[in-house]
Amino acid sequence: MTPLIIDTDPGVDDALALALAVASPEVELIGVTTVFGNVSLENTTRNALRLLALLGRDDVPVAVGAARPLVHPHPHLSSAHGSDGLSGYAHTLPEPTRGPDARDAVTLLRELLEQADRPVTIVPIGPLTNIALLLAAHPHVKPKIGRLVVMGGGVEGGNITASAEFNVWSDPEAARRVLVEEDVPTTLVPMDLTRRCAVSAQWLADLAKTSPTAAALVGLTPDYLETYRRFLGWDGMAVHDAIAVAEAVRPGIVRTTAFPVDVDCSFGPGRGALLVDRRLEAAGPKTLDIALDADLDGMRAFLFDRLGALGG
Ligand code: BDR
Ligand code: CA
Repeated sequence: MTPLIIDTDPGVDDALALALAVASPEVELIGVTTVFGNVSLENTTRNALRLLALLGRDDVPVAVGAARPLVHPHPHLSSAHGSDGLSGYAHTLPEPTRGPDARDAVTLLRELLEQADRPVTIVPIGPLTNIALLLAAHPHVKPKIGRLVVMGGGVEGGNITASAEFNVWSDPEAARRVLVEEDVPTTLVPMDLTRRCAVSAQWLADLAKTSPTAAALVGLTPDYLETYRRFLGWDGMAVHDAIAVAEAVRPGIVRTTAFPVDVDCSFGPGRGALLVDRRLEAAGPKTLDIALDADLDGMRAFLFDRLGALGG
């Protein structure tokens, strides 16, 4: 089993991503770290604790991370996930019987990596602030990271601005540090692919029938579904973060291509955009493995099989 850490800002799709990790025997979820993002740090932390309670994994430490980006004084939260980050239904989840870990996120990440006897996969599915701080403060743990599987960025455009995807835009300096300036093996799962792997409202309704746990997860989706209906005219939703966890659980489920990349950290209209150089002659100091393709129906079937097998 591969040890797995999820750095997250739950978030409706983060909730499904956490559930997928718990439902997957190939990985051992050894820690969860929280970050501001979809909603405030207070809410993302509370949501992570509640979700792990729902999933019967109160044994997994949840450590509190960054409340704001590295440079910007204030986080810009998302409106896509409802008032509490879970479509206004966080209160339907079990009340956690514990609080967060006494250690902050960077300390927990450092200690878990130092103690690991095998390479650890880290899946950042929110702003990259915690990971940038970890790599800057504790570079000695880098060899213990087998791989980062990051959900973030848009190759053909964005979702929070015309050019920027939410996770990268939320903290571009952190994203640049992690995706461009560091040398940790990284797979980037951008919104181009995660949107193509979207699930339908019927898929969710069918999933809800499989168990009370699955029904509780599907019960968190109404506001998020409504966002997709309103802005894209979809009768379904992207499960962005779950696609990154799928790749962590089953390496190769997405198909990657290496491209030189950069992140726009200017304060102009392109701020937070992922710059992917797809010119044939392009040569950059750093290339990133970017997931641009997958067996889309196979991915949806994989997610359904795993989430549909959740106990309870
Ligand atoms: C990313 O932004 C968040 O709203 C989602 O949880 C996902 O991590 C998609 O752009
Ligand atoms: Ca997220």
